[in-house]
Amino acid sequence: MKSNNLSIGIFDSGVGGTSIWKEIKSLLPHENTIYLSDSKNAPYGEKSKQDIIELSIKNTEFLLQQNCKLIVVACNTATTNAIKVLRDKYTIPFIGIEPAIKPAALKTKTNTIGILATKGTLNSELFVQTSSTFRQQIIIKETIGTGLVELIEEGRMYSTEMTSLLKSYIQPMLDHKIDCLVLGCTHYPYLIPQIREIIGDQIQIIDSGEAVAKQTKSILEKHELLNTNSKKGKHQFYVNKSKKTLEILLNKYEDVISVEEKEF
Ligand code: DGL
Repeated sequence: MKSNNLSIGIFDSGVGGTSIWKEIKSLLPHENTIYLSDSKNAPYGEKSKQDIIELSIKNTEFLLQQNCKLIVVACNTATTNAIKVLRDKYTIPFIGIEPAIKPAALKTKTNTIGILATKGTLNSELFVQTSSTFRQQIIIKETIGTGLVELIEEGRMYSTEMTSLLKSYIQPMLDHKIDCLVLGCTHYPYLIPQIREIIGDQIQIIDSGEAVAKQTKSILEKHELLNTNSKKGKHQFYVNKSKKTLEILLNKYEDVISVEEKEF
């Protein structure tokens, strides 16, 4: 097979990276994708850097065995802790995702933004370094979203437990007059309706999904790897735990050809 027509590989610690997959599919409708949901090991955000690196290598090896032409690390925690190691170890192009501080810094009028992300992301060297350059211009109120990923993995996005966790994380940021809220975890876009209930419509919610899709397109173009097929792409999903939540999230997409439970 011509390498252009190979699949884009995507991985996350769980189902959250499907929020990125949707953006990629919408910008690049002719691309095939293979998505890996490492739900058995979620949340990555509570693990050590070394563990996150090892899991990211395991996921990459699986996607390479499937002959992927490019890998999207659809996880802020894996990107901020492991993407450098992945890029040094493999020749295939990697696209990562990081909390969208820059767009928020450009938009804020109160000079104060909030970032909701995992412990692993907020404590990573990459995040600390990137955010420190912006802290000269703006105030960044960061909060660890403890427990949110676990509830999403269980499909409990609309539970009372979720609502009370979100309120406890977001209200202190509102008290500090944030006017932009950055979602620094790919699971969190699934919480936007609940977050809107708490913050109203005056505060902007910013995530990096669209930017990642654009970057994926530009890197595929640069490497002359864009799929030349005129038909719509096909999408395969693998998960190493129950596929229930993944199936619910993918329910409306007709071009999903399989959602398979598999050991990896
Ligand atoms: N979706 C992952 C992220 O973007 C969740 C991390 C986790 O499993 O804790 O950070």
